[in-house]
Amino acid sequence: MSSTAVLGCMFGDEAKAKIVDVLANNSDFVVRFQGGSNAGHTIVSNGKKIVLHSVPSGILYDKTVCILGSGVVVDPFALNEEITQLEKQGINVSNRFFIDPRAHIVLPIHQELDSKSENDKRNRTKIGTTKKGIGPTYADKSARFGIRFSDLYNIDYLKERLTNLYFSHHLEISKEEIDKLVESLSEISKKFEPFKMQVPYFINEQYEKGADIIFEGAQGTLLDIDYGTFPFVTSSHTVSGSITIGCGISPKKIDRIVGVFKSYFSRVGEGPFPTELFDEIGNTIREQGHEFGSTTGRPRRCGWFDAIAAKYSAMINGVDEIALTLLDVLSGLKTIKICTAYIIDGKRTLEFPYDTNSLNNCVPEYIELPGWNEDITKIKKYDDLPKNAKNYIESIEELMDKKVSIVSVGPDRNQTIFRS
Ligand code: GDP
Ligand code: IMO
Ligand code: MG
Repeated sequence: MSSTAVLGCMFGDEAKAKIVDVLANNSDFVVRFQGGSNAGHTIVSNGKKIVLHSVPSGILYDKTVCILGSGVVVDPFALNEEITQLEKQGINVSNRFFIDPRAHIVLPIHQELDSKSENDKRNRTKIGTTKKGIGPTYADKSARFGIRFSDLYNIDYLKERLTNLYFSHHLEISKEEIDKLVESLSEISKKFEPFKMQVPYFINEQYEKGADIIFEGAQGTLLDIDYGTFPFVTSSHTVSGSITIGCGISPKKIDRIVGVFKSYFSRVGEGPFPTELFDEIGNTIREQGHEFGSTTGRPRRCGWFDAIAAKYSAMINGVDEIALTLLDVLSGLKTIKICTAYIIDGKRTLEFPYDTNSLNNCVPEYIELPGWNEDITKIKKYDDLPKNAKNYIESIEELMDKKVSIVSVGPDRNQTIFRS
């Protein structure tokens, strides 16, 4: 076994970065394959917190090489700033950070289009995006007007492509403005030149040699462009199938799939959320879990664990094992609920619906389990967890028919319980 996928299986922010960071201790490579700087990935090591947006979560280990595959969209300005901040903290990326030249570039125009559509009063379905330009960049990629990382190294071609891109959006841009944009891109692209890597050749060769590779997901299954709660989704595929497309490796080379699930559900932005809590318990979870977006600072909506949505995610991704995170946040609740069925228009179903209307109308059916009061943040062994916490974990295992192999009881690396 030499490759492991670590994937968010809810609406994002499942603590993927923490799990990647913990597993990357023994890894040679951490590869991102989709998304962009819409991601906010938090790592806490010895009380020190680092939030990553585009750089993979292996960067804290000197020997781990971090890679962005072709499926990622790269905002060169934001990435440059992120790298500068990392360097200021003594984290060096040279010779250990690479980007596939095929990766598409997020330009200022993409962010403008993203914000414009989100702020436009005529828009009846605001997504609540991160306004990082992700949707417009993937749209331009599909429409074949997008700019790739490799295009930054051919100035004449870049100018031609940029002119074309503005034309495709029916926008005027002067020659002077194009020159200015190209100049600012050129400055960064000089710095980024050593990052260029033919990721498919490299990663396949490393896999064959037996290297330890982690594929790091961003966002979560329920935000997938097809399998999520469309249109309240991100614009990339967030599921395991996306790994193969997003870095040029066969599905046969994904050996282990770890699904990251929070011990409850959270969502930032608009869209259906069947188990959302609007009461004091929801507020308590938000406060105890510090549930405020890592990228935008927005308060996250919180709700009970939804086993229907979770099973759907596990099925689509082919999850082998579960990393259950933020269990400590539930400490102190008298009882804890898990959704085990949906009632939609009077009919009971165990299937996650494909349409927003059904999801908005569904009434969750719950089981209720006893909570625990103990502080669990210092517990290192599974057996030392309170009886009711173990009962909660084992109920999730039973409902999902999957093993919980990792339990996270706090943000720090060392607040992690591995089960044999
Ligand atoms: P990601 O996008 O999936 O990597 O997750 P985020 O970093 O956006 O959000 C997860 C948040 O939970 C971060 O603030 C983490 O530091 C924090 N966190 C991770 N694991 C735990 C845990 O087990 N308990 C608590 N209380 N916080 C955690
Ligand atoms: P990580 O990797 C949580 C959400 C946004 C919005 C929708 C579309 O940290 O889990 P976008 O900017 O992608 O067009 O926004 O997706 N979203 C996330 N929610 N975690 C994320 O990333 C997210 N990235 C995007 O809030 O609802
Ligand atoms: Mg996040």
